[in-house]
Amino acid sequence: MKAAGLAPIVNAQVTRLAASLAKHGVQNVDVAFVLGSGLGVFADRIEKARVIPYTELEGMPMSSVPGHAGKLVLGEIRGVRVVAQQGRVHLYEGWSADDVTRCVRALARCGVARVVLTNAAGGLHKDWPPGTLMRIVDHVNMQGTTPLAANEAGALKPWDLELGSVIDGVAKRQKLALVRGVYAGLLGPSYETPAEVRMLAWVGADAVGMSTVAEALAARASGMKVAGISCITNFAAGITQDVPNHEEVIEVGKRAARSFSDLLEAATPELAQVL
Ligand code: HPA
Repeated sequence: MKAAGLAPIVNAQVTRLAASLAKHGVQNVDVAFVLGSGLGVFADRIEKARVIPYTELEGMPMSSVPGHAGKLVLGEIRGVRVVAQQGRVHLYEGWSADDVTRCVRALARCGVARVVLTNAAGGLHKDWPPGTLMRIVDHVNMQGTTPLAANEAGALKPWDLELGSVIDGVAKRQKLALVRGVYAGLLGPSYETPAEVRMLAWVGADAVGMSTVAEALAARASGMKVAGISCITNFAAGITQDVPNHEEVIEVGKRAARSFSDLLEAATPELAQVL
């Protein structure tokens, strides 16, 4: 157990959720997944699945965004114990950085050592068509907030090289064109203007979304190893004439879900070996 200098109330909330998770059987889990918009179907790959609605978890914040179911799926993938968070809450819904990271922190308390964060994102490259999968190699935090306590500030390299290279290797074997890039996390809820997208390209971003960054920081600060995949569901504003919209994001996410799920399913046993 690592309290890591969290404010007492934040710590108490994490402790309460962790106890609730443990009571629901979240123990001896090797890999956790956080599933983004439209990507929830990966949970269908989980065998011996036990579904825990968020309503049964004490202190678990719940999303009202379409495409985000509110449940944890606990079980096995290829013999590896996993848990998938199907649906997450966002800062733009009014939740705090502590709220959006409570579940990953609680999972870390339950002994989960690895997490794969996934999301839908807008792509900043003309040659990354919707449906492209991008492994997150780093991020830019433009959300204006952080879940980190002062003494956690050392967590500057959240994205784990080893987990990343496992995912790259599996993609290569599957002949899946997985690109790599930097994820810019913005607050939302509106999509960006074309001028903002030009700024993001200039600061070195390859994809833009409204989640993931706080979770990556908190998970790493809690001692977890972190990997991430963005499903590029649309061209970011101004990259083409298309204007991003949430329906397209969900639709493309669903279409890409098969290759996304194949990749993560095959990677799971190797991810679980990374110490
Ligand atoms: N911008 C921000 N978030 C997103 C986008 C986008 O273009 N697509 C999916 N999530």
